[in-house]
Amino acid sequence: TRKIIIDTDPGQDDAVAILLALGSPELEVLGITCVAGNVPLALTSKNARIVCELAGRRDVKVFAGCDRPLLRPLVTAEYVHGKTGLDGIPLPEPTMALQDQHAVDFIIETLRSEAPGTVTLCPLGPLTNIATAFRRAPEIISKVEQIVLMGGAYFEVGNTTPAAEFNIYVDPQAAEIVFKCGAPVVVVPLDATHKALTTRPRIEAFRALGTPVGAAVASWTDFFERFDMAKYGSEGAPLHDPCVIAWLLRPDLFEGRFINVEIETHSELTMGMTVADWWRVTKREPNALFLRDVDADGFYTLLTERLARL
Ligand code: BDR
Ligand code: CA
Repeated sequence: TRKIIIDTDPGQDDAVAILLALGSPELEVLGITCVAGNVPLALTSKNARIVCELAGRRDVKVFAGCDRPLLRPLVTAEYVHGKTGLDGIPLPEPTMALQDQHAVDFIIETLRSEAPGTVTLCPLGPLTNIATAFRRAPEIISKVEQIVLMGGAYFEVGNTTPAAEFNIYVDPQAAEIVFKCGAPVVVVPLDATHKALTTRPRIEAFRALGTPVGAAVASWTDFFERFDMAKYGSEGAPLHDPCVIAWLLRPDLFEGRFINVEIETHSELTMGMTVADWWRVTKREPNALFLRDVDADGFYTLLTERLARL
């Protein structure tokens, strides 16, 4: 099994990613670290626990982390995810406790105590927690196996500004620290996630599982589909964050290139843009595997099959 820490701001698509991980025996979730993003920290750290309880996994450790980006004011996305961040069918208030330890301390302590190269970080929101851990304890960077993150865009450009994707836009300074850190980085940008659309039959397949998990996932995907279809005019909405977990399970479903990716942190106009040297027109050192494509049918088959186990 592969040990992972999921760093997240649930968010319906984050919630589906957590469920995909918990339904996959190849992965051991050491902890879920929450960050402010789609909604404020109090809600993301509550939503993560709602999802663990839905999966019958009250044993998973959930930590609260940074409540705002490193330098910029927090920008949230209730217009996509609803007021709670997890709008859809009503779910019970969580009764499992949040861990006392701060998420950043948990990340540092875990990377210090586990064998080098055995822990993969899976950031699904703004990169504030990860960057803070790296700044505070730079020696942990060399111990990371991989950082597989959802963020950025190149050909599909921005979903938050014309140039930037939400996770990178919210905390570009944190993103810059992570992209420059030197550990192996895999990027799942909008270019890949905009191919993994929640079409009607795919949502109905979740519902057809006939389980509480299936009903919740169908309601969540239904919820933001209405918004995203109006925005993009596509058949269904992109299901971003579960692609990160899917890549860990089935990298063969994805295509990408190992290239240089830099983060814009100066221009207000293009703040948070992931400047991806796809055509290798510079001599800048490659620092990230940038995924451009996913086999959407393969992805949804895998996802539905894993959700069925919960
Ligand atoms: C990302 O932003 C959030 O709204 C989603 O959860 C995803 O992580 C997509 O841009
Ligand atoms: Ca997210």
